[in-house]
Amino acid sequence: MLLPDPALVVLVGASGSGKSTWASSRYRTAEVVSSDLLRGVVGSGEHDLDATVDAFALLEQVVSARVGRGLTTVVDTLGTDVVRRRRWLSAARAAGLPAVAVVLDTPAAVCRSRNAARERPVPARVLTSQLASVAATADLLEAEGWQVVRVTPDESTKDRPESDDTARRRETAAPPVHAGLRGVVLQLSRFPADGDLLAWLRDMAAAAEEAGLAGIALMDHLIQIPQVGRAWDPIPEPWVTLGALAASTTRLQLGTLVTPVTFRAPGITAKAAATLSALTGGRVFVGVGAGWWEREHAAYGLGFPSATARLDALERAIETMRALWASGTKPYAGQRVSLPETTSYPRPVGDLPLIVGGGSDRTLRIAARLGDGCNVPSDEAGLAKVDRYLAMVREAGRDPSTVHATVLDLPLVGRDRDDAWSRVERHRGRAPAATFAARHHAGTATEHAARLAGLAERGVTTAFIAPVGLDGPDDVLALAPLATAFG
Ligand code: CTP
Ligand code: MG
Repeated sequence: MLLPDPALVVLVGASGSGKSTWASSRYRTAEVVSSDLLRGVVGSGEHDLDATVDAFALLEQVVSARVGRGLTTVVDTLGTDVVRRRRWLSAARAAGLPAVAVVLDTPAAVCRSRNAARERPVPARVLTSQLASVAATADLLEAEGWQVVRVTPDESTKDRPESDDTARRRETAAPPVHAGLRGVVLQLSRFPADGDLLAWLRDMAAAAEEAGLAGIALMDHLIQIPQVGRAWDPIPEPWVTLGALAASTTRLQLGTLVTPVTFRAPGITAKAAATLSALTGGRVFVGVGAGWWEREHAAYGLGFPSATARLDALERAIETMRALWASGTKPYAGQRVSLPETTSYPRPVGDLPLIVGGGSDRTLRIAARLGDGCNVPSDEAGLAKVDRYLAMVREAGRDPSTVHATVLDLPLVGRDRDDAWSRVERHRGRAPAATFAARHHAGTATEHAARLAGLAERGVTTAFIAPVGLDGPDDVLALAPLATAFG
């Protein structure tokens, strides 16, 4: 059972049905609003019935404030009468949050015996009337507009059921087409400003191998980009850095995401990639793109022609690289490029996939006709581009199972729900917490694995992930559950 998140979740169940237990095993303390606990806040304790009116006033205020901010809110109270339900439902609708009613289907006998075992049991006749009212309420919920989820006693004790879902998806996932690049590739985009860079890279690479990730990708920028850090944050040259990673890894695929064709003559990139391929026994991919950031070009004395000219250059670059990687030394006369000879040794070992980054129609067409894969964002708009790309691959008369449909994903991965939320608070800057959490799918590694498995079902073969706040090897090891999301 995978509940929507964020959501307004209202618990419906008699005393002793396990509402509070269910809520605390799944949600952070701050996400659960309990009338009992609020009685203890404004009254003498959880059982202070004199404090009921004040406690409910506070409960309503908390629900309205949290839901209004788009934050997950779990209402834990016996007081779920129709007036309150309507108010909560319309608050959720207004905030665009799913409204979920979780009905605790705990047998009456179980509620009775748990109640009897409590220090302050509710009177037997009160429990009887609660059980009747819960049954009556449960019948109304769907018609009122709630998404109804029933929890049986077995499920109520089970830990985080999403993991079962992941396992199920794993069983039905397609067999790997490209064992090499297929899977989850870690993109390293931030680097320590001081200390031993080589030691840090080795530790990160060792952790990525141990976590079972498919590879490591490096951005190719001359100045740290504003989306990631400050201009004076270090960003080492990627092909040199990949050479260092080649020496300290045995299994990971290594490459750039993406190398702008404006930075280096394409033959030089072809030479670097072929050398890296020879050094690693063929564990290399090359991401290529048209380049987009004028500032870094100006600072390094590089030209930054028009978008059309850059895309023309991208086509020529792909043709040139392929010509230099092909066997032999014969002259090359292609559609856009002619070379008097193609003498280039060492040659790459095995496959050397060219992943074309960018989502414009022309870029997707270049990827489909000339490249071995595309790279687009992992959001809905990006997934629509994956569809378009795969259609273009078919139109070009190529077999879609031979290409890499890749996405860039920026997950926020927490050890648990509490840790995920404290990372949201640490990294959200001025963005509202709910917006930031949604953009980065803030959650546990298990939750991300289920989400990535969903991307695989939509034709994605590789997720390049750049986790928010990735600091050291421990953060990389925590990604292990994601490694098998693509089968
Ligand atoms: N309990 C249990 N196994 C579960 C759920 C609950 O043994 N799967 C026990 C709890 O440890 C607790 C009692 O049953 O002692 C009641 O559970 P609780 O979650 O407190 O029930 P609520 O529905 O929250 O009851 P109330 O409405 O009285 O707060
Ligand atoms: Mg309770």
